[in-house]
Amino acid sequence: MSEKSSTGLRKGLTSYGDSGFSLFLRKAFIKGAGYTDSALDRPVVGIVNTGSAYNPCHGNAPQLIEAVKRGVMLAGGLPMDFPTISIHESFSSPTSMYLRNLMSMDTEEMLRAQPMDAVVMIGGCDKTVPAQLMGAASAGLPAIQLITGSMLTGSHRSERVGACTDCRRYWGKFRAEEIDEQEIADVNNQLVASVGTCSVMGTASTMACIAEALGMTVPGGATPPAVTADRMRVAELSGAQAVKMAHERLTIDKILTPDAFHNAMRVLLAIGGSTNGIIHLTAIAGRCGLEVDLKALDRMGRDTPVLVDLKPSGQHYMEDFHHAGGMATLLRELKPLLKLDALTVTGRTLGEEIELSGPGFAQDVVKTRERPIYPQGGIAVLEGNLAPGGAIIKQSAAHPDLMEHTGRAVVFENADDMALRIDSDDLDVTADDILVLKNIGPKGAPGMPEAGYIPIPKKLAKAGVKDIVRISDGRMSGTAFGTIVLHVTPEAAIGGPLAHVHNGDQIRLSVANREIALLVSDEELAQRALDEPVVVPTAGRGYRKLFLETVTQADKGVDFDFLRAEHFTGSTPTIE
Ligand code: FES
Repeated sequence: MSEKSSTGLRKGLTSYGDSGFSLFLRKAFIKGAGYTDSALDRPVVGIVNTGSAYNPCHGNAPQLIEAVKRGVMLAGGLPMDFPTISIHESFSSPTSMYLRNLMSMDTEEMLRAQPMDAVVMIGGCDKTVPAQLMGAASAGLPAIQLITGSMLTGSHRSERVGACTDCRRYWGKFRAEEIDEQEIADVNNQLVASVGTCSVMGTASTMACIAEALGMTVPGGATPPAVTADRMRVAELSGAQAVKMAHERLTIDKILTPDAFHNAMRVLLAIGGSTNGIIHLTAIAGRCGLEVDLKALDRMGRDTPVLVDLKPSGQHYMEDFHHAGGMATLLRELKPLLKLDALTVTGRTLGEEIELSGPGFAQDVVKTRERPIYPQGGIAVLEGNLAPGGAIIKQSAAHPDLMEHTGRAVVFENADDMALRIDSDDLDVTADDILVLKNIGPKGAPGMPEAGYIPIPKKLAKAGVKDIVRISDGRMSGTAFGTIVLHVTPEAAIGGPLAHVHNGDQIRLSVANREIALLVSDEELAQRALDEPVVVPTAGRGYRKLFLETVTQADKGVDFDFLRAEHFTGSTPTIE
């Protein structure tokens, strides 16, 4: 096949048994939209439009598309925008994670089905960037991630606020009856001051930083807020760069290498990023034939300090990180810990991009390695008989006094059971206990909802208790904080040891020893498994059936088994 026949509008012709006719027909239809032959002869850059009235985090998508188109045309390409699924955290039932793999399939198949030489993917809200990177990794085209950007911060009675750490903080105050109905209504108007993604280092900001660390955005693509001129310039540059990538055939497999994942994990740890970042990186790596080695990730964490002072681990918001120089400032500081030869979408290496970003300037958002926010990486990997396949804790958001703690289990069988009893005055619970929530894992809920942030029982909250050890097989929002053990693998719904924890059992958490242990003998646990057989959830039809039959556990990224790479070639990160 000649190069010309496999590019532009000639690419991936519809099967009519006569390729000449297929192209003739395709051109006839597109000409109905007013295109000339000259336009149709150019490299085609697809633009994934995830604008949706249900997704205010992508509320700037129309402006971004205009800017990307401008960049594509200035570079001599033909821009073609098209829609895919869009997922917003608050408008996805039962949980956005349930739909991430569906969005990745939509993205992959539309990238394959439609003729394009490169693609710019507009994503921002938590699950959209991972879904797009997963889909693009499988489709194999030259691809650039364009982040929508963070929302602006608001002000409540002169206090700066932003979604969604402050959402949880104010809701906690309301639950503890520290503020009244009028004040909680007032604050509701201020938490989200513009379109764009959550303004703290939640999952959306984490994935934006990871996308840049992977080399999948243009330099500086992670941090400009959604409504700024900087964000529009990033969009124009992304469009122009996509044309260049199409000419150079700079496909995504040349960028998403083991070194790129190594860099992304360093950044995840150094930003005190969302625990969800591990699951998403595992899923993206799985599309590239790479397993994530959780033990190596934990070793990496021990010599990666948290440097970015953003909520919920620190003080600032995403727009402050941007004003402090954004990812260039962080990457410069992390330089000795990075794989500098990793290629980026510019065709230059990460090391070259760091050099090009200049010397930096005085600022107080990104700390130095000598004076970090937190001496170790934000996330620690735990093991033990309660989580043979691993569990994690965001130690940078945990209470120091609770990181070495043994306590009595107070068990909730599922999310409904918890909702029913957590605020009851009759709940037998003290601040020294450990709350255990079962059946919120990948198959359990299903979709592994962000219900791992178990609220402080009302009677303890009213008594002033701010934190308590909590354990589940679910996830938690990147904007949450507390001494919370997550992603317990295998999950309760498929018969993991978590399923057999009883009220009153003793549990030991030791972050120093990376241990989560149920202090019950192996014999007793085996007997409980016989006495309490687990019925694995099933569904009769539809997407739910596909989901329940094929979804993997957290250590495989909660991807569908048939979407992961057919052949695995290694693991990441590689660290002694
Ligand atoms: Fe979209 Fe937080 S809800 S980024």
